[in-house]
Amino acid sequence: MSTTPQRSFRTRVFIATSLDGFIARPDGNLDWLTERGEKAGDTGYDAFIADIDTIVMGRNTYEKTQTFGFWPYEGLNVSVLSTRLDSDDPNITVERDLAALVHHLNASGAANVYVDGGQLVQSFLREGLLDEITITTAPVLLGSGISLFGALDHDIELEHRTTTTLAEGFVQSTYAIN
Ligand SMILES: NC(=O)c1ccc[n+]([C@@H]2O[C@H](COP(=O)([O-])OP(=O)(O)OC[C@H]3O[C@@H](n4cnc5c(N)ncnc54)[C@H](OP(=O)(O)O)[C@@H]3O)[C@@H](O)[C@H]2O)c1
Repeated sequence: MSTTPQRSFRTRVFIATSLDGFIARPDGNLDWLTERGEKAGDTGYDAFIADIDTIVMGRNTYEKTQTFGFWPYEGLNVSVLSTRLDSDDPNITVERDLAALVHHLNASGAANVYVDGGQLVQSFLREGLLDEITITTAPVLLGSGISLFGALDHDIELEHRTTTTLAEGFVQSTYAIN
């Protein structure tokens, strides 16, 4: 059962995985995704992000953004979950746990929140904090890497909403979580 406070916002995941369920290679490399993604063209990301006002991401995903050489989320409120990140980056707030994060998002008037990062998605699922997941599956098996999903102490029932076939063999499915 959730131990986090009531929330006044909706949460969505929009993430890409290999067919065997990895969001990155073991070292965080995304080459398998970016090369195909560039060839695929529109994968719905622009439409998705247009509805988002706030992003929350795990520390590892935040650290990946710091290798891009530019800040990709200009104009959006961004919170990073970390028990130990010490940052003076003006683009983000750092929250130490989910209860503090929910408190911050309620107070800041967040409405549509994008949740990003494998461990963070797993935390949200365990606490019953996710409303919708869109997974874009790339036609590749990586064999090993960073998993999107992990162990659960109970089943989580999903309601299938849509599945679309995109260019370059990507398949995109959206599920609601009750
Ligand atoms: N394929 C895609 O679409 C996609 C999307 C996003 C990310 N990625 C890739 O996935 C990798 C990152 O994913 P990841 O699973 O390793 O990590 P992540 O979820 O981005 O970050 C994990 C870290 O976030 C913090 N965290 C997570 N849940 C927390 C909680 N409930 N309370 C406090 N802190 C919490 C912890 O930081 P501390 O250890 O500091 O406490 C934890 O070590 C990167 O390589 C990234 O590029 C891929």
